[in-house]
Amino acid sequence: MNIAVIGAQWGDEGKGKIVDLLTPHVSIVARYQGGHNAGHTVNVGDEQFILHLLPSGILHPGVRCVIGNGVVVDPDALFAEVDILARQGIEVGDRLLISDKAHVILPYHRELEVLAEARRGDRRIGTTSRGIGPSYEDKVGRRGIRIADLGDASADGPLAAAIRENVSARNRAIDGAETDWRTLHADVRATWSRLEQWVDDASLFLSAAIQAGQCVLFEGAQGTMLDIDHGTYPFVSSSSSTAGGICTGLGVGPRSIGAVLGIAKVYTTRVGEGPLPTELHGDMGDQLRESGREYGASTGRPRRCGWYDAVAVRYAVRISGLDALAVTKLDVLDGLDEIPLCTGYRHGEEILTEFPSNGATLAACEPVYEELPGWTSPTAGVRRYEDLPPEAQAYLQRIEEVTGVPIAIVSTGSDRADTILVAGGLIDRWQAERAMSTSAS
Ligand code: GDP
Ligand code: IMO
Ligand code: MG
Repeated sequence: MNIAVIGAQWGDEGKGKIVDLLTPHVSIVARYQGGHNAGHTVNVGDEQFILHLLPSGILHPGVRCVIGNGVVVDPDALFAEVDILARQGIEVGDRLLISDKAHVILPYHRELEVLAEARRGDRRIGTTSRGIGPSYEDKVGRRGIRIADLGDASADGPLAAAIRENVSARNRAIDGAETDWRTLHADVRATWSRLEQWVDDASLFLSAAIQAGQCVLFEGAQGTMLDIDHGTYPFVSSSSSTAGGICTGLGVGPRSIGAVLGIAKVYTTRVGEGPLPTELHGDMGDQLRESGREYGASTGRPRRCGWYDAVAVRYAVRISGLDALAVTKLDVLDGLDEIPLCTGYRHGEEILTEFPSNGATLAACEPVYEELPGWTSPTAGVRRYEDLPPEAQAYLQRIEEVTGVPIAIVSTGSDRADTILVAGGLIDRWQAERAMSTSAS
């Protein structure tokens, strides 16, 4: 059974850690959206890996990794990441497959994004400045350049024409030094000799693998609230990070998604601008940021912190059809006397229990909290559910009740080993099934 791992909040939920944990049970890990705006951290002993564009499964030898057509690829960022991994002892080699239909990010995308953000002033999105939005704009505007287009060797063919037109638009939009399209064309062409080895039809590859009984993990980037359609628009990223994006972003049918695991912190964070109903502005927010080391894995920016928001995660359950949750960072709440948990929003006289579509409504919402007792003995590093303090167990149980799905994994530290697999839960059953099918084949 193929499984999807999806962020259920505003990104940075700990997807990297959970993907890494599940990868030994699959043959292929596939990214379906986003780009190198993502920062997925995997800690193994003393070694830390931060994956941006490459699926986190790449750390496991023998696992094939796919970058789907729904991803936007900056070739320079890709090469840099492959080189960093090689220095850390991970060889990508021929284990990577990049969809020939994935769109590229070129330097003018980054420049246009910086300009657009500056022009928005107070309404800026707080993007990662990686060129993600403008690359998706070009894709939807039908002037984008796809990975396979880079193989066009002619001096005046379609690639040259597309670059010439896009650079001309860039030069009209940006004051100051102009970009010379011929130089860019030559630079882009030069990337092809290294890229070509990985470029193929990802949909065809996945479909053959799935038919042959191989198991695929679909790795989401960002999170539900950053989804272009379902997130807190316009304060979102530009891709479909919810489960729907898997089909369009990889060219696989909906029935190939066997189970969907949502990842959520036991509190909430967001990096960048936009509404965050449970945000804490005072000392408590600082305390969560420091004890959770809440600084962006891609940009190093401090993350905004707040309490667990069940309205938001319940919404993620609905939008992606989450079967279960992996909750992370329980240890960060160690030592608190009381832990507020948001179960609804107060909007004027009304109590909302469903996440509002309208940004202005959301911005005017106040969280409705219920207080749960904290715990004194630490959960950090605890690896068996029954060893968690009773108050921590009660907190997790309440999360399940108010969110409406069972918890399948509890993470109590950043290390791979600091994890509780809930007995009889989705992942426990999935791993048992995987073990049986592996021994039968
Ligand atoms: P992603 O983007 O969803 O993969 O998440 P990030 O890697 O951006 O951020 C999650 C951070 O939390 C990383 O630094 C992880 O190493 C760390 N982390 C993951 N799970 C836990 C946990 O249970 N406890 C603690 N303390 N840190 C964790
Ligand atoms: P992972 O995969 C958290 C945020 C940015 C900004 C908004 C739009 O590590 O969870 P963009 O550069 O994508 O156009 O920025 O989205 N953002 C993320 N926040 N985690 C991420 O990825 C993010 N990727 C983008 O901060 O608010
Ligand atoms: Mg991240």
